[in-house]
Amino acid sequence: MRRFLLLYATQQGQAKAIAEEICEKAFVHGFSADLHCISESDKYDLKTETAPLVVVVSTTGTGDPPDTARKFVKKIQDKALPVDFFAHLRYGLLGLGDSEYTYFCNGGKIIDKRLQELGAQHFYATGHADDCVGLELVVEPWIDGLWAALTKHFTSTRGKEEINGALQIASTASQRMDPVKPELSHIESRVELLRLADSGRRDSEVQEQNAMNRGQSSALIAESEPSLTHSVPPLSQASLNIPALPPEYLQVHLHEFLGQEESRASVTPVDPVFQVPISKAVQLTTDDAIKTTLLVELDISKTDFSYQPGDAFNVICPNSDSEVQHLLQRLRLTDRREHCVVLKIKGDTKKKGAALPQHIPEGRSLQFILTWCLEIRAVPKKAMLRALAEHAAGPDRRRLHELCSRQGAADYGRFVRDAHTGLLDLLLAFPSCQPPLALLLEHLPKLQPRPYSCASSNLSHPGKLHFVFNVVEFLSPTTMEVLRRGVCTGWLATVVASILRPDTQVSPAEGGPAPAPEVPGVCSISISPRTTGFFHLPSDPAAPVIMVGPGTGIAPFIGFLQHREKLQEQHPEGHFGAMWLFFGCRHKERDYFFRDAKNMAKDVNDTLVEIISKETGVEKLEAMKTLATLKEEKRYLQDIWS
Ligand SMILES: Cc1cc2nc3c(=O)[nH]c(=O)nc-3n(C[C@H](O)[C@H](O)[C@H](O)COP(=O)(O)O)c2cc1C
Repeated sequence: MRRFLLLYATQQGQAKAIAEEICEKAFVHGFSADLHCISESDKYDLKTETAPLVVVVSTTGTGDPPDTARKFVKKIQDKALPVDFFAHLRYGLLGLGDSEYTYFCNGGKIIDKRLQELGAQHFYATGHADDCVGLELVVEPWIDGLWAALTKHFTSTRGKEEINGALQIASTASQRMDPVKPELSHIESRVELLRLADSGRRDSEVQEQNAMNRGQSSALIAESEPSLTHSVPPLSQASLNIPALPPEYLQVHLHEFLGQEESRASVTPVDPVFQVPISKAVQLTTDDAIKTTLLVELDISKTDFSYQPGDAFNVICPNSDSEVQHLLQRLRLTDRREHCVVLKIKGDTKKKGAALPQHIPEGRSLQFILTWCLEIRAVPKKAMLRALAEHAAGPDRRRLHELCSRQGAADYGRFVRDAHTGLLDLLLAFPSCQPPLALLLEHLPKLQPRPYSCASSNLSHPGKLHFVFNVVEFLSPTTMEVLRRGVCTGWLATVVASILRPDTQVSPAEGGPAPAPEVPGVCSISISPRTTGFFHLPSDPAAPVIMVGPGTGIAPFIGFLQHREKLQEQHPEGHFGAMWLFFGCRHKERDYFFRDAKNMAKDVNDTLVEIISKETGVEKLEAMKTLATLKEEKRYLQDIWS
């Protein structure tokens, strides 16, 4: 079997899912893929690797590679490495990104560039997939083209071996093989066109679309309009190319629970977790404000948790209790919610390298797993829709096939991805669909802790940590009637409700009951540090600082201001630079949290270019270079959240 090494670097799971898809398809095409997360450096060695390498890598933060690739990138960026370090390596790279961000697919670009600098060569041209318009526009043709490229690579390598005997590939630098180019150039230009068309879609159109979605539940909707559950010609009459059915690999047994005490701590965390009391909660907005903004103070004095202004930390949060109960009900598993989930790999599974999901701990109840371990709000990937279709009948089955088909890509984008349709929404919209529990456990990603910026300075508030957030609220995309809250912000609002307004009871429907306070009147939450701290005040207090942040994006700057103010108080004789803070508030937009931050970052970037260009009288390109230099010198820092 022709083997290749397949590495993925993911932040939120898409690169992993795509790598797994490549792995599955490889088998069908007569290849065998050795699949690893890029962080598993003990499982592969690029220095001695003779097989071709395929890398799928996404981008996070401000053009950064995912956290899982940090060590890898650091290692290959070692300046001491010779320029022919990877001369023996032939590779193909698929970058994932979102063109609304300033540094599109930069995680992939960084790795690609460095591999080239170290002598590695493409056997297949790089693809850059854009989440803004749908990754599949590039991912699907890139994968389709990969097999021919691999075949060409293996044929030519074998030919070379036959001609040159045992000559090492590394010594044949002159025989550079032209990388096979997937039919991507036209796809990338299509992506660009779509993006341009899409960027013109402003709030009125978003509202229009929302109104349209809302209409799904009403009889008023014209049958000629497509919706999540309904398609129109030509799609409704098209013959469909649907993805292969993902092989099942989990066997689930539900045993009567033996009564072990359950706590959030039983979710195995990567980082140290601190259980911290909430010492204060303040509502910063008035009661009639469109959004509710809360400031929460955590008491970290009895822990080793430390932070600097600008740092962020994770809050470990559960899914909404009401949604978990609803899901259990819909799966007809309510009476077994206390049962203990025991997982095994199916003996006859066709999934290559099937492994038990790391994020599902052993011996926990079904309710615990749905509450603390699985991202039940995740937008289902096409593979999941394909799997769900197997458990649906009639028109539901056809529509699910359409939504995961190549022909239905636009409808998937519109009614699933952009509408943030989750599993529960789908199950409500497609009543005939009755999936087994194993399907959920195979497809739902890990419930991620939610990151927040520290909004205080440890100098001004010793032993305390402040953070600020808006309580996210939106209507369920299927019914447009049920009010949903953000997973973490909705839960936090419930947790602090008794401190915030002791006389107000939050109903379980609004996010479920808060965990019992440890000390009466004091609630506590679990937090963990985030290690990517780069967004800090300049170490020189005399350096002037310009800060730009919309809405709750102001949070880290409050910490910056407090910090310098306190330093100034402590060193009245010192020289302190001026601090300028530009901030803005929005009023109306309901979809703020889903659409906003990346555009804001780009707009700030563009405005800075404009200012530099105008004030220094240089061309735009020159101004862009100046800004890039400021970024390189870490004088221009971006901390983007979305
Ligand atoms: C917080 C955050 C920051 C991101 N930053 C960038 C970026 O700087 N450049 C880019 O091209 N895409 C960026 N993206 C988009 C992701 O790379 C894209 O959605 C990708 O498909 C995610 O793949 P993953 O699930 O494997 O991490 C960002 C996404 C998030 C959520």
